[in-house]
Amino acid sequence: MDGMILTHVIGWGLGIVLFFAALVLYNEKKSKQATIPHMILRLDYLVILYTGFVLLWRYFDASGSSFTVQAIIKGVAGLLVIVCMEMILVKMKKEKSAKAWWIIFFIALVITLLLGFGILPMGFLPA
Ligand code: HEM
Repeated sequence: MDGMILTHVIGWGLGIVLFFAALVLYNEKKSKQATIPHMILRLDYLVILYTGFVLLWRYFDASGSSFTVQAIIKGVAGLLVIVCMEMILVKMKKEKSAKAWWIIFFIALVITLLLGFGILPMGFLPA
């Protein structure tokens, strides 16, 4: 496993922890405290995006890859996961329903993890 994959995995691993921390605090109406994990999460989005796009770029090299389409779908699903996390937290903060975003979140997360771990070849789990 190389450093870019490792950084990507640390990025989204940390992201999920921060997301749940902010979620719990917003849920307890501790909006002020929730801002801390929420802001760190927003910085972490940049790590996930940067490493994700660098990894994606590898599937566009001259030699051609048989996984380019899967990698693009993985990128779109990953992007959707980030959009959903942000939308869910903003809805929670405003005390509005985030139900639709939760549904998209779980679908996108399953697709992201299946493609990332199961199908794309550079993962650290045996495909
Ligand atoms: C929260 C959002 C995201 C999650 C949970 C996630 C999850 C993962 C996982 C589980 C892997 C496989 C790592 C491994 O097995 O070593 C991976 C790899 C990858 N991700 Fe993400 N990712 C996210 C966002 C993104 C974004 C936004 C992009 C692109 C724009 C992206 C592009 C990629 C690419 C190209 C790979 C390389 C797969 C390979 O070559 O095996 N990811 N990601």
